[in-house]
Amino acid sequence: MPRSAALFPVAVLLVCALAAGDAGARRSAGATGAGDPYFPAAGNGGYDVLHYRLTLGYEPGVRRLVGEAEIEARAEQDLSAFSLDLQGMRVGSVEVAGRAARFHREGGGGHELVVRPRAAVRKGAGFTVVVRYSGLPEVVRDPDGSEEGWLVTEDGALALGEPVGARAWFPGNHHPGDKAAYDITVAVPAGLQAVSNGELRGRTREGGRDVFRWHVGEPMASYVATVAVGKFAVRRSRTGDGLPVYVAVDPGQIAASAEVLGRIPEVVAWGERTFGPYPFSSAGAIVVGEGDAEYALETQNRPVFPGAPGLELLVHEVAHQWFGNSVTPESWRDMWLNEGFATYAEWLWAEEHGGDSAQEVFDLLYAGDYFEKKADGDAVWAFPPGRPPNAARISGSPVYERGAMVLHRIREETGDEVFRGILRGWAAVHRHGNADTDDFTAYVERKAPGVDFSRIWADWLYGEGRPAAVPAEKETP
Ligand code: TRP
Ligand code: ZN
Repeated sequence: MPRSAALFPVAVLLVCALAAGDAGARRSAGATGAGDPYFPAAGNGGYDVLHYRLTLGYEPGVRRLVGEAEIEARAEQDLSAFSLDLQGMRVGSVEVAGRAARFHREGGGGHELVVRPRAAVRKGAGFTVVVRYSGLPEVVRDPDGSEEGWLVTEDGALALGEPVGARAWFPGNHHPGDKAAYDITVAVPAGLQAVSNGELRGRTREGGRDVFRWHVGEPMASYVATVAVGKFAVRRSRTGDGLPVYVAVDPGQIAASAEVLGRIPEVVAWGERTFGPYPFSSAGAIVVGEGDAEYALETQNRPVFPGAPGLELLVHEVAHQWFGNSVTPESWRDMWLNEGFATYAEWLWAEEHGGDSAQEVFDLLYAGDYFEKKADGDAVWAFPPGRPPNAARISGSPVYERGAMVLHRIREETGDEVFRGILRGWAAVHRHGNADTDDFTAYVERKAPGVDFSRIWADWLYGEGRPAAVPAEKETP
């Protein structure tokens, strides 16, 4: 028998075995994206994170972050490999279930940390990943041009995560669809503060460093996780109901922000009357220096403000605790469920506190007379709030103002009482969960079965351009 003939079947078998092994491995590797229509690389597939334990040390002088992330997760499929999102930073080691795991970086700028555990994780099994990393965390530039990620401030740093900035400072499943509990410990040079989400569980001096231990018991999306390091004046108090309030203010902003921050208990109480029980175990605010951030963000428990906030902005960010942080969008396409609601909260607040009624604001916007001070009057009609044209537009005016107009159109059809029930019910049904726009329209239809909402959805939520005039009151025969 010629040698080649004898070898042939062996070679074929080998190739088959390799091909099968390879396909099997690929089938059981978690996806490197969560399937978001606007941010396909954000998040990952194949597992669900239950808890993050982040142990961080930051040195403002050299801007260096040293971190350990212990991630407790549950496998949603067999996992021969899985991915975490982490941009920049040097990864020193990865362990899965206490054993060193192989890992490498993929994706633009290496923002996918692909981990291959010694033994595949079985579907349904819990597993713990420990990632040790260090480096100079990066600023992430949004598709809309704004800055997030790890921002160096005058005397420290500020982490802002919407939509994908969390990958700059800890490895994780960075998509709003995967919320988790957190324990965040931050060591900083003695004398500086480290402020984060949740409640401060401990503060100790270790060597020349102050160590702050923050605990977040309720589910949190990583885009509203934050750490602020620097000089802050800290005030701790409680609302009338006993909810802890932790406010940290840049020393230059104390006088300018005192009055509005003093109204946090009143705004939370109003939110509870309007939207139902406050979803978290503490409230507060972080006010950084005016040049330290470009915008406010509804970071969980305590929103970040770039300088002293006005009352409207405080109302907006506090309303996000219900709409965005507790009821969290399924994907970045559902952004109007955050911003339309937070904007409508501002309108409701004004209406109930001697300002314009929501109807008046709606009418001004519809007539094009609202924006003279902010932007051009047509911006609000640029695209439908339920379908932003691309990732750069998810923070555009249609998502905010026209999103609020969708809610106002619902209110016009249902009347105030049913509408109030819809706001509270929506916050209750999806409390600490995720929801998308289809969930919302279906919910509204269930709560007002006699009303035809089809034109509102077609024209206001999904329609291009400025909808035709609101139909006049139905005439009684
Ligand atoms: N959510 C923030 C607010 O309304 C604004 C914001 C910051 C934002 N970054 C964003 C909105 C990225 C969309 C995308 O207070
Ligand atoms: Zn907002």
